[in-house]
Amino acid sequence: MARRAFTFLILICCATICPVFLLENGMALTPIMGWLHWERFTCNTDCYNDPDNCVSEKLFMQIADIMVTDGWKDAGYEYVCIDDCWLALTRDKEGRLQADPDRFPGGIKKLADYVHAKGLKLGIYQDVGNRTCAGYPGSYGHYDIDAQTFAEWEVDLLKFDGCNFINLDILVEGYKNMSRALINTGRNITFSCEWPLYLWPFQTPNYTDIREHCNQWRNSGDVFDSWKSVTGIIDWTANHQQLLVPFAGPGAWNDPDMLVIGNFGLSPDQQVSQMIIWAMMAAPLLMSNDLRYIDPKAKALLQNKNIIAISQDPLGKQGYKIASVNNFDVWERPLSGDRYAFAVTNRYELGGPRHFPIFMATVPGWRRCFPTCLIATVFPNYVELGEHSFLSQYKFTINPTGTVLFIVSIPPKTKLLNNLNKRAGLKLNRTWKNLNTIQRKDDYF
Ligand code: GLA
Repeated sequence: MARRAFTFLILICCATICPVFLLENGMALTPIMGWLHWERFTCNTDCYNDPDNCVSEKLFMQIADIMVTDGWKDAGYEYVCIDDCWLALTRDKEGRLQADPDRFPGGIKKLADYVHAKGLKLGIYQDVGNRTCAGYPGSYGHYDIDAQTFAEWEVDLLKFDGCNFINLDILVEGYKNMSRALINTGRNITFSCEWPLYLWPFQTPNYTDIREHCNQWRNSGDVFDSWKSVTGIIDWTANHQQLLVPFAGPGAWNDPDMLVIGNFGLSPDQQVSQMIIWAMMAAPLLMSNDLRYIDPKAKALLQNKNIIAISQDPLGKQGYKIASVNNFDVWERPLSGDRYAFAVTNRYELGGPRHFPIFMATVPGWRRCFPTCLIATVFPNYVELGEHSFLSQYKFTINPTGTVLFIVSIPPKTKLLNNLNKRAGLKLNRTWKNLNTIQRKDDYF
């Protein structure tokens, strides 16, 4: 009784005294979806020799057109985002930022109007330090005027990089100041930070602070167009998930960087893996590819409604890796409506497709399926497989570096039994720990 009263007191305290650690701008209630130029187009400013691929208003207008005509907007992709290298080398007479006049002759306001007329949103890039990573003028010492400029241009998102910061205190203060400056403009601007990425080499970032000031934040290095880069980010995230996952939720997301699907470096199976694991991680889905010439298979994958539904699930919980067994990685993401998504990646890069049996030893979450759950495969195809018991021996076949995705729904009767059998469940957990083939990762979630 005394314990219950104590718990109740804590809850009341939290509801009334504990601060709400969230940037209160109402943005990114689900992970944002859109397009960002960096990985595919980098800092190509040579519009003379490469007019179709240089960073210019023409490129962003073409991408905006295609986002509407080719089903991207309908699939949920709404942000068209400019990265580094859009700026002129100097500020104007009033100290305001200006776009490169040759490559953006209409200026950013005109581009924003164009993008808005298509029902899309425009993102822009700046840096907390003296200069951007590519050497253009940074925002240090100009946070208020730059935020005001972006608001006047009607920009909808700011990616705020961390290159060339003066010292660690100024880096942190700079992110906080820009966050406040954006709020003070009165315009709702999604704030995308790289604050933790630049802190990690020196100290463990304070994610409570970060969540309070940013809608999303980069933790790990830049994505490149390769499987090595994508798996490097996936593994880094899994290795830090106990720290990262609790901070994700509506309005606040861990950002593992862009989707490079539709480019040159990933095989079709690896593209599937990036799409599914990004959805499992509740990551922003910002593609960096050339939507003007995209392969139909990559397009179908990026527009796959069932994977996108998992990415955008309203419960807003980030998934996590629950097991590595026999060179298979198993990920779990709690979904709304008493459902869980499971993704299994075949990490073995030798030989052909391998079978992955789902049962308690391979999918620890399976213990929730006593006596039964409903299973549906989501990828490669949506198929309802009906009711399965927790002793099920259903098998998936997975190509090397590929991933399958399935959803387990817990029917009310099973949920009731789960609750009644919580104590018995604890006993099952203990059995898990004795299975030395499994590295259990989910004890804390
Ligand atoms: C950093 C960022 C990248 C990109 C480049 C641009 O490396 O992490 O995402 O914005 O700068 O210069």
